[in-house]
Amino acid sequence: MKCFQIFYLYLCMFIMILLPHSSFGQEKSGIIPAPASMDIRNEKSQIDRLVLYVLENPEYGYIKALARQTPGIALVTSPEGSNITLEIDGRIPKEAYELYIEDKQVKIYGGSAAGLQYGFTSLHQLILNRNFPLPKVVIKDNPEFSYRGMHLDVARNFFTVAEVKKYLDFMAFYKYNAFHWHLTEDQGWRIEIKKYPKLQEIAAYRKETLIGHYNDQPHQFDGKKYGGYYTQDDVKDIVAYASERNIDVIPEIEMPGHSLAALAAYPELGCGPGPYEVATKWGVFEDVYCPTEKTFKFLEDVIDEVVSIFPGKYIHIGGDECPKIAWKNSSFCQELIKKEGLKDEHGLQSYFITRMEKYINSKGKQIIGWDEILEGGLAPNATVMSWRGIEGGLEAARQNHDVIMTPGSHCYFDHYQSENANEPLAIGGYTPIEKVYAWQPIPENLTADKRKYILGGQANLWTEYIQNFSKLEYMAYARGIAMSEALWSKNKNYNAFLQRYELHHGWWTAKGSNMAYHIYELKPKITAGVGKSIKVSFDLPIKTAIGHSIDKTLQPDMNSGESFEITQSGLHTFFTKINGKEGTPIKLNFDLHKGTTAKISFVNPPSEKYSGNGAGSIINGIKGSNEKYGGSEWLGFEGTDAIAIVEFAKATQIDEISCRFFKGEGQWIYLPKKVTLEISKDGNNYTPLQINQVNTQDGKISNVSFKNLQASCKFLKIKAQNFGIIPEGAQGASHGSWLFMDEIIIK
Ligand code: ACM
Repeated sequence: MKCFQIFYLYLCMFIMILLPHSSFGQEKSGIIPAPASMDIRNEKSQIDRLVLYVLENPEYGYIKALARQTPGIALVTSPEGSNITLEIDGRIPKEAYELYIEDKQVKIYGGSAAGLQYGFTSLHQLILNRNFPLPKVVIKDNPEFSYRGMHLDVARNFFTVAEVKKYLDFMAFYKYNAFHWHLTEDQGWRIEIKKYPKLQEIAAYRKETLIGHYNDQPHQFDGKKYGGYYTQDDVKDIVAYASERNIDVIPEIEMPGHSLAALAAYPELGCGPGPYEVATKWGVFEDVYCPTEKTFKFLEDVIDEVVSIFPGKYIHIGGDECPKIAWKNSSFCQELIKKEGLKDEHGLQSYFITRMEKYINSKGKQIIGWDEILEGGLAPNATVMSWRGIEGGLEAARQNHDVIMTPGSHCYFDHYQSENANEPLAIGGYTPIEKVYAWQPIPENLTADKRKYILGGQANLWTEYIQNFSKLEYMAYARGIAMSEALWSKNKNYNAFLQRYELHHGWWTAKGSNMAYHIYELKPKITAGVGKSIKVSFDLPIKTAIGHSIDKTLQPDMNSGESFEITQSGLHTFFTKINGKEGTPIKLNFDLHKGTTAKISFVNPPSEKYSGNGAGSIINGIKGSNEKYGGSEWLGFEGTDAIAIVEFAKATQIDEISCRFFKGEGQWIYLPKKVTLEISKDGNNYTPLQINQVNTQDGKISNVSFKNLQASCKFLKIKAQNFGIIPEGAQGASHGSWLFMDEIIIK
């Protein structure tokens, strides 16, 4: 290196030391969601105390509420002495803000009151994480998506006004701006409609509620009347509270399905003779609104009262999961289909939604509907909420309609967030925090010109299994924090997020919130089915030591990057060791058998949504949970047969084979019709060995065993025949059923 180059290098290093520069990156700022750009300098301001004056306007209500909870900020009633300036700057986008901590004062510029609120929230989070005097800071921030929503189902379980406000506080803290309030359902109608008092007297209450999981058979009930509703004054109170937090409230009035509670109150709105009863268990029900003039009059009257108390732009009209059987059997509906020149019952659903859209548009509001509203033709101005996957959203965007993405795979916070056997009961699925964090609301295969139709995304909180606010916090908060960054921040970094998440977890826990903590839970990657012994490794965002024991016998620690070979059956327990803390242990009960060192493949691959740890999951010596079908063990086949080919290293004596299937008809998971076993020496010519029928009376798990085989083979083919189309009357009727299979045990 030449002399001047060395001199230049030293000069640069010297300048870098002298210049005040960012002392740390976003991981230490404490701010979630991470701002678009941020410079926290090593230089201190002279600010050792902050004084804030805020205008009385309602849209600054949250700033005031938060200031009262910010250590080191005094709230005053006149501008003198204030060293925080809050100023609306019309040159920056509405939700954007700029935050400057200068030598003697803090300046926040917002594109609107919302922008100012976000700027102040960032200041609050920054202050909570450091001592005075504050460092000098420059933050320029703007959300990636304009729609950042959280939903709450108050029909399956009811939450009080105070609890809804707590939920809104959580949302405001993470810069969400849309509260989707799911107010009507089969199990209860929760909004006062003055013109229809029986909605309050009858539809708001059910006589009892299902105990345990829907998949537990036989169904049992608690025998207790349950219900409640919000008066219109309650609604106004909540809407005002949300508005002080710059959150729009979107009421959902479900139609034409999920309407049993309304039918119980006003049976003349159904297609059948009734009587109807407010639902006492979960699911999809065949009795739905009949598209008569009486029904439209009822719904228009309901909408009249709804629009008078919800000032926002949107009314959500549901539209999901509407079985068509009542319409098929109704001569009125069949005549209406003919009269209107509709193709079928899907056309009738489209007619229903389009007609209601027209009415709602006439009130100056726009409709949102779940993605089923695409079926039979989309109403002209509708915004689509894509929940069954991303396809509905893609299709709507291609048709130039606005879309809110909320696919079950990433946005359903009623799913399990951990594979831990002790997790509280949830509906199913598996959506851990890192999956939520990594979510990209705009599907990759959407062309650039259509991307603008994706307004943003939303977390959904269905409450069949969320009976109280503590469980709501457990299910929604940790993942809600991760989702806020997926919707707000352009540059995401999970490692940096985790450090900030630790702080936030601490704050909420100190306030008494029941927040889940799964971030350092080990997620084993089990490699099996490749013709070698089983290996376990852990893909952690940070390097950590891993403790391990086999049947209580401690093994030497390993590192998170290493893999561990399983050569011994027994209960293997693994746990992280991080900063003196041990993470929740993960327990893997390995029961090695002749299949665990074989190769495995499937003729039809499992669905990407339920692909466990790959095909090897089915033969890795671990049985999937008896309660949960999500996660790394069960493989889900959507509408197809599961045809497994097992290849041994050499000809192997087979005496007994068993395989396990999951039944969860509420989640569209059916047992196979039959299971066939064939053997082969060469992998080309197979000989049938046994066919077993499956006992559909079994509980959630069905074991299918092939006994006394006394055969020798190199290849085995095990074919589980998919149940097929889900019958009318069942949940998911007319869709292909799922088949879930786990361990094939070979002895
Ligand atoms: C839905 O989850 N049924 C929209």
